[in-house]
Amino acid sequence: MKKLYLGTNTKMYKNIVQTTQYLIKLAELTQDIDRDLLELFVFPSFTALDAANKIVSEGGILLGAQNMCWEDEGQFTGEISPVMLKEVGVKIAEIGHSERRHIMGETDEMVNRKVLCALRHGLMPLLCIGETEEQKKLGISEEVLRLQLKIGLHHVNPSMASMLRIAYEPVWAIGVQGKPITLTYAAHMIAAIRDELSEIFGAFIAETIPILYGGSVNNENALRLIALPELDGLFIGRAAWDAVNFNMIIRDVLMSRFDYTQKKAAFSRE
Ligand code: PGA
Repeated sequence: MKKLYLGTNTKMYKNIVQTTQYLIKLAELTQDIDRDLLELFVFPSFTALDAANKIVSEGGILLGAQNMCWEDEGQFTGEISPVMLKEVGVKIAEIGHSERRHIMGETDEMVNRKVLCALRHGLMPLLCIGETEEQKKLGISEEVLRLQLKIGLHHVNPSMASMLRIAYEPVWAIGVQGKPITLTYAAHMIAAIRDELSEIFGAFIAETIPILYGGSVNNENALRLIALPELDGLFIGRAAWDAVNFNMIIRDVLMSRFDYTQKKAAFSRE
């Protein structure tokens, strides 16, 4: 049975108090869920990581960083070192989110350096990829995704591939202005991503790399999306920032994927 991968990035919204309250609630609500079925991760703001670590260190929620530098130390004012992130319990690093690429100007080459650096430090890279609306209109979405993977994963040793998680997040689908994705389109892009991963690492390894979808995921479309057999999880923004709602999505998605009668004890709604 393949586990499900569900995570959220709180972007630049929650302060320390809000993050800790959120995590306490999320940890409590999801504590009964069998972690063989679920990998759950949260990417809070940097200032909240230390406090967040004290809450999630018991296990159950993987602590993530929304970004990291590709160097351990040096003259990189304003950047954050993977060594410093590990010091506060970070296990997974979000790399190449569309807002980093399109607002902060991160290139595929920078993304690749970050991926390699995260792996060097034993951090799991959550590599985010996605085409813009213009690229979609030009009919080059698949090529864009393949290129982002080719460059982003350049020189990644296949033996490290089990550390990778890929989040497919079309730029045009993310955020308040985001447009809904059709299932056919999503299935097509996810298949292209799997195919590109096969080209890079070989089919056997590619099958083991979780692919998540992100971009305006909510209670309603989560179930339809997770019905796509090639999809391993969801990366959620707004709809996951309320712990009660996130817990509802988690349980609905788990119940739709796994045999509820068999696993009832593992994710009951009570
Ligand atoms: P959204 O954010 O679910 O609010 O669209 C997704 C993301 O930015 O990862």
